[in-house]
Amino acid sequence: MPASIPRERLIVGVDYGTTFSGVSYVTTAQRDVKDITVIRRWPGDTDARKTPTRIAYKEDNPRLEGIKWGFQADAKVMSCAWTKLLLDRGSDSQEHDDPVLRQAAGSGIFHLPEHRDAEGVCEDFLREVYQHVTQHIEMKIGQGLFDVTPMDCWLTIPATWSDRAKASTKDAAKRAGFGGRKALGDRLSTIMEPEAAALAALKGYEAGESINPIKAGEHVLVCDCGGGTVDITTYVVFTTTPLQFEELCAKCGSTFIDRNLHKLMSEKFGAAFDKVPAAKKGPGSIFMKDFEILKSDFRDSAPDHVVELTLKMDLEESESYDPDDGTIKLTRRELRGLIDPVVLKVLQLVRSQAQEVQKIGQGKIDRIVLVGGFGDSIYLFERLKEWSRRELGAIIVCPEHPQSAVVLGAALRGLEGLAPRKRKCRRHYGVAVGMPFRPDKDPVQFRYQDAATKMDYCSGRAEWLLKKGAEITKDTKKIINIDIHVKQGQEKIAELELFSCNLATPPDRVDHERVTYVGKIRVDLTSYLDSDSSGRKDLKIGGKGSYSIAAEVQVEFGNESGILQFKTVIDGKEAGKTSIDFD
Ligand SMILES: Nc1ncnc2c1ncn2[C@@H]1O[C@H](COP(=O)(O)OP(=O)(O)OP(=O)(O)O)[C@@H](O)[C@H]1O
Ligand SMILES: [Mg+2]
Repeated sequence: MPASIPRERLIVGVDYGTTFSGVSYVTTAQRDVKDITVIRRWPGDTDARKTPTRIAYKEDNPRLEGIKWGFQADAKVMSCAWTKLLLDRGSDSQEHDDPVLRQAAGSGIFHLPEHRDAEGVCEDFLREVYQHVTQHIEMKIGQGLFDVTPMDCWLTIPATWSDRAKASTKDAAKRAGFGGRKALGDRLSTIMEPEAAALAALKGYEAGESINPIKAGEHVLVCDCGGGTVDITTYVVFTTTPLQFEELCAKCGSTFIDRNLHKLMSEKFGAAFDKVPAAKKGPGSIFMKDFEILKSDFRDSAPDHVVELTLKMDLEESESYDPDDGTIKLTRRELRGLIDPVVLKVLQLVRSQAQEVQKIGQGKIDRIVLVGGFGDSIYLFERLKEWSRRELGAIIVCPEHPQSAVVLGAALRGLEGLAPRKRKCRRHYGVAVGMPFRPDKDPVQFRYQDAATKMDYCSGRAEWLLKKGAEITKDTKKIINIDIHVKQGQEKIAELELFSCNLATPPDRVDHERVTYVGKIRVDLTSYLDSDSSGRKDLKIGGKGSYSIAAEVQVEFGNESGILQFKTVIDGKEAGKTSIDFD
C-alpha cells in the first residue's frame, strides 16, 4: 500500500475486571460511539457482554486437555478467580487484605496454580482473550483486511493501583499478544478505569443522544460499582460539543457482596458449609449463579420474606435448611445484611465526594451516573435516589448497559482521543534526598558530612515532588536535578529511589511506615557519555578521569495512560536511557 494513503486502524478496548472481563472494537473508518461493538460471543455463551475472569489449568485439573477459561471454567473445574486483586499486593491501600476476604480465599477465590504467579495467570487469561478476540474480529472484517490493519489496543487499569501493578499488568497484556504485530504497527496503551467509565457515561448523555443531555457547567459524578471495587470520580463538563471536561476529585473503596455471602453461610452452618468443596460453592458454581439472580432481583420488601439457595451440605433439617433438596432459606433481612454494607459504602463515598466538591468551591453535584455490574442494581438506584432527594438534589441515571461502560470508554479513548483536560494526582510522589541536618529534629544516625561543603546533612529526607490532589495536565512533569558522578572504569549509571504516600500530609522521611517504595529510577548514560563529553566537571576525588555531570531527571506525570514516564536531560537534550525498576 503506498505510504500516502492513510491506513485505517482497528481500535480494541479491553476491560480486565475482577469478576468479569470484556472487549470492544471499532475501526477508525467509523466515527461514532454507536459504531463500537462490544463482543458478546464468548466460549460457553453467545450473548454476554462480558466473560467471567476465570481460568482453569491442566496442572490443577488433570482431566482437562488444555486451558479452559471464561464461562467454560465452570465450577466443575478448579479455576483461578479474582486474580486481579492479587496484582496489587503490597500497595499502600491495604483494603483488600481483610480476614473475611482471606476466608473466602479458601473457597477457590484467589487460587493460583503451582506453576504460575498472579501476573502469569493474568497473562494466560489475557492470551486466551486475545486469541478469541482477534479470531472474532478477523471473522467480522475478513482475514485480508485484518492482516493489514494495525491494531491499537487500550487496556483499562484501576486508577488507584500502584505504579508497579499498572506496569506489570500492561506487561502481562503485552506478553499475551496485545500490541504484538509489531511489523504492522500494533500498539498497546492503557487507560484508567474510572476515566473510561466517565468517557462512556458522558458521551452517552450527549445532546442528541439522550432526552436528558448533560449541559455545559454540569458536575457529573461517575460511580463504577464493580465486583471488587467502587470507583467514584467527579468531573466538571466545560463544553459538550466537543466534549471537554476535567476531573475534580476521586475516591475508591472495595465491595464484596459475594464475600459477605460466604461469611454468612459459614456463620450459620459452620463446618457443614466450610467443608463443601470449592467446586460447589466457589465462583462459577450453581450456588453462586443462583446468588447472582438473588442479588440483581433484590429490592426492599418485607424483612421476613424468604428467598432460597440450593447447596447440598451434611446437615440436619432446621428452620433454615432442608437436607432433602439442599434448600437454604434466607430471609430478606439476611440478604439485605449482605448487600447493605456495600450500598452504605457507596453512599458514604458519594457523600464525602459531594462534600469535597463543595469544599473546593465547585458547588454541588448535578448528576450521578451509575455504571459497573452492581451499578445496575435497582436496590442501589432506589437507595441513592432517596438519599439524593433528601441531601443532594442530584439526578441519578444509569445507562443502558452499565457493565459495558468501561470497555466502551476504552474504545472511545482510542477512537476520539477523548481525555479529561485535568486530573488529580492520587498520591504524593517524592524522592529521598539529603537535607541540611536539623539538630533538634533529625535522628543522629542519619547524619553525614558532605565531602565538598563539609556541612552536616541528614539522609533519607523526603522531597515531595507532586502532592496528592495536585492538578495534572498532559504536560505535568517534575524535575529532579542530580549530579551524576562517574568514576573511571565504572558503570555510567545513576539510580534514584522514588516513593509515594497516601496520607493527607506526607511525612518528612521516606522510612516512615506509611511511605511506599515505588521503584528505582535508572539513568543509563553509557552510550551518551561514550559519544559526548560536554558538560563534564572533573572531580578531585574518585581518581584520575573521574568527573561529574549535571543532569535533569524528569518524571512525567501527565502521560494519558496514567503510567509514569521518565526522561533524563543534559544540556537541554535527552540523554541516555531512563527507566524504572519496580523490584
Ligand atoms: N443487576 C445487578 N444487580 C446487582 N449486582 C449485579 C448486577 N449485575 C451484575 N452484578 C454484579 O456486578 C459485579 C460485576 O460487575 P463488573 O463487571 O462491573 O465488575 P468487574 O469489572 O469484574 O470488577 P472491578 O471493576 O471491581 O474489577 C458482579 O459482582 C455481579 O454479581
Ligand atoms: Mg470493572
